[in-house]
Amino acid sequence: MDTAGVNFKELFNLSGRVALITGAGAGFGEAIALGLAQYGCDVAAADLNFEAAQRTAAMVAAQGRRSTAIRVDVSKPEEIAAMADATVRELGTIDILVNSAGISQHTPALEVSVEGWDKVLDVNLRGTFLCCAAAGRVMVPKRKGVIINFSSIAGVVGMGRGNNAYCASKGGVNSLTKQLAVEWASYGIRVNSIAPCQFRTPGLLEVMADKQFDPEKLIQTWTSGIPLGRVGEPHEMVGPALFLASDASAMVTGIVMPVDGGFLAH
Ligand SMILES: NC(=O)c1ccc[n+]([C@@H]2O[C@H](COP(=O)([O-])OP(=O)(O)OC[C@H]3O[C@@H](n4cnc5c(N)ncnc54)[C@H](O)[C@@H]3O)[C@@H](O)[C@H]2O)c1
Repeated sequence: MDTAGVNFKELFNLSGRVALITGAGAGFGEAIALGLAQYGCDVAAADLNFEAAQRTAAMVAAQGRRSTAIRVDVSKPEEIAAMADATVRELGTIDILVNSAGISQHTPALEVSVEGWDKVLDVNLRGTFLCCAAAGRVMVPKRKGVIINFSSIAGVVGMGRGNNAYCASKGGVNSLTKQLAVEWASYGIRVNSIAPCQFRTPGLLEVMADKQFDPEKLIQTWTSGIPLGRVGEPHEMVGPALFLASDASAMVTGIVMPVDGGFLAH
């Protein structure tokens, strides 16, 4: 196509597309739901916390977009299948999948139980894979789709504070992202992951409230590792997600995109 004939303002237009977002009841998932809706996207807001999913779906509807709220536990394979079915039934298809549901755990390596390990891996890694597969079943036949997985800087480098299962799960998300990007490229499906540093979401506030930590010290440790000198705010994840969800990133697949204030740059 002739560059002169391209309307670049349309690159971020998501009108007529449907996004399924897990973890949509809070944090990144909620912010991304609202952000994509403002660019024309209809949204299925899925979360373990159904009331929170309903709140997000209502905010999407207030933007004039179609929305539906779905209760899902992404550690339960049968609930994931039902979530994908409900999205197609209510909104017609799945064009974009955002896997934002995730949990953390801070247990020193020698104290981690098998159950504790499995819980983190079941939600963060197996859940992400099964959601990709459920969306893939809709996307492969139409030979089009976009998937955004949530990794972390902890999926790229080791962190302190008993992050063993979490780091392993996020490293797995990065490998899975690359594998699916390659495996599904011929179907026109792009798969990327985002690796954030610390962002002030409800999930992060929960870590700060954990009695084993001094919140002041935590913030100090986090910000000292981030060249931009501060933690992120949830709304600052909307731009990166919009880029990956839209045609603006049409030639981008298989990447782990740091959104980390420069953390991984040094
Ligand atoms: N906030 C950060 O600093 C940060 C940094 C790096 C990576 N991440 C990752 O980004 C993603 C989103 O994080 P956040 O900070 O917005 O989290 P959050 O805790 O603020 O929100 C997560 C949402 O996911 C839902 N959820 C939890 N378990 C679920 C399950 N089994 N099934 C369905 N929904 C479930 C929760 O109810 C909640 O609404 C996570 O994968 C997290 O690991 C976050």
